Amino acid sequence: KILILDFGSQFTQLIARRVRELNIYCEIHPFNKIPEIDESLKGVILSGSPYSVRQEDALHVDFMQFHGKLPLLGVCYGAQYLAHFNGGEVLPSSTREYGRANLQYIQEGNPLFRGVPAGSQVWMSHGDTIATLASNFEVIASTDSVRVAAYQVTGTQTYGIQFHPEVTHSLDGKQLLENFLVDICGCKQDWTADSFVETTVAGLKEKLGDDKVVLGLSGGVDSSVAAVLLHHAIGKNLYCIFVDNGLLRKNEYESVLDSYKHMGLNVRGIDAKQRFYDALKGLSEPEAKRKAIGRVFIEVFDDAAHEVKDVKWLGQGTIYPDVIESLSVKGPSATIKSHHNVGGLPDFMKLKVVEPLNTLFKDEVRRVGKSLHISDNILGRHPFPGPGLAIRILGEVTPEKVAILQEADAIFINNLRSAGVYDKVWQAGTIFLPVQSVGVMGDERTYEHVVSLRAVESVDGMTADWCHLPYELLAKISNEIINNVKGINRVVYDISSKPPATIEWE
Ligand code: XMP
Repeated sequence: KILILDFGSQFTQLIARRVRELNIYCEIHPFNKIPEIDESLKGVILSGSPYSVRQEDALHVDFMQFHGKLPLLGVCYGAQYLAHFNGGEVLPSSTREYGRANLQYIQEGNPLFRGVPAGSQVWMSHGDTIATLASNFEVIASTDSVRVAAYQVTGTQTYGIQFHPEVTHSLDGKQLLENFLVDICGCKQDWTADSFVETTVAGLKEKLGDDKVVLGLSGGVDSSVAAVLLHHAIGKNLYCIFVDNGLLRKNEYESVLDSYKHMGLNVRGIDAKQRFYDALKGLSEPEAKRKAIGRVFIEVFDDAAHEVKDVKWLGQGTIYPDVIESLSVKGPSATIKSHHNVGGLPDFMKLKVVEPLNTLFKDEVRRVGKSLHISDNILGRHPFPGPGLAIRILGEVTPEKVAILQEADAIFINNLRSAGVYDKVWQAGTIFLPVQSVGVMGDERTYEHVVSLRAVESVDGMTADWCHLPYELLAKISNEIINNVKGINRVVYDISSKPPATIEWE
């Protein structure tokens, strides 16, 4: 495996993605929490950073434990750090070194640049630059304005590069990383979804033995894949709980429960609709609604878990980005919305936690799901928030509003499917607005509710753009909703991107 030490760069996760794409396993750890080194470790990458090595509070790492022992690649800050604290000099750059540049000089035969042609485009993003190198360092690549675009500590496997090989604008970045990882570190490219399943199931078997595990299924990709992995390892000792909170999409509870049973999972469905509706009564403030739902979920789940005799473990579908976030150098960013299912283990449950997906990125979870033959109906579904339709009903939630919204939403989603655009949209949903507007139906005045349609494109939900759905499709959906859903006489389309808006309205 490869260790990536994080100094807080926005690109650190991207380095990990690229390494994984080469079928090589890697882990990100904060620069100041270096894990124990064992022989599975083949090399170390030092990430970039928003800090400068010239700052008094520069982030320090004890790199001597790697230098000369393991191949070491410093990227950007990592490169400047190694250069600066080994007798070189890092200065503020006179020209802003940001954006595309070309490697005019590449040292012939240098293993890091095997297969990278002269003139190769790279992406620069730094305010400092390496001005001079210690005498045992040599320049191995330059651009017109950056002499030390890359260096090697002569005769060793320590390298530094000031550009970012992990971003796609560095056209041969992947080749460079492959050279480092395969040729220099000697990694085998054998980390695939199939091998992950095999080693994870074996590991779970050993870890869990005859212990019982409870796991809350949500219908989403992560909890489903986690459940199937655990099921492969411990079979009937996995007790799945699927709660109907009365805030799911139309028919979702029945159809998802049915798929789970077909997959052979030992799953218990719990109808807790009324408990959730009671808790939501009178609440209209978004955070209050989320907290109430989170609380009732834990109560319902805890009651059900207590019925499993001698249970020792709680299974969770936590994925790698959540783990990285909780370890991150800068600390989690300000809470915009409290996502109730992240880190949501109640202390009083006193169970040990097993999280089989906590080293995977989202698309890797999907690939593992495919390798486990989980149906596309589950793997391909849009993300759906834990608090469900409650955060798509602005203001107080009532069963009546839920029923109206479910009908309108089903029309929207079914139309996306039949028009063949469901899979192109990252997430879609319908929002029930707390206003009424005047309309006319036949000869009669109506005074009814408005729903908004929301469909976005995104990669990871962090940023999003509204989808340019065809007008004809929007017209058809609007007609169908207004003609078929009693209580709605107006449909609007949300054309806000994130940021500054968010995907959900609450
Ligand atoms: P926002 O609205 O913050 O949403 O742009 C980003 C993504 O997160 C989902 N989301 C949630 N998921 N529990 C969840 O499991 C929550 O409380 C929650 N709030 C938002 C949202 O659906 C989108 O995919």
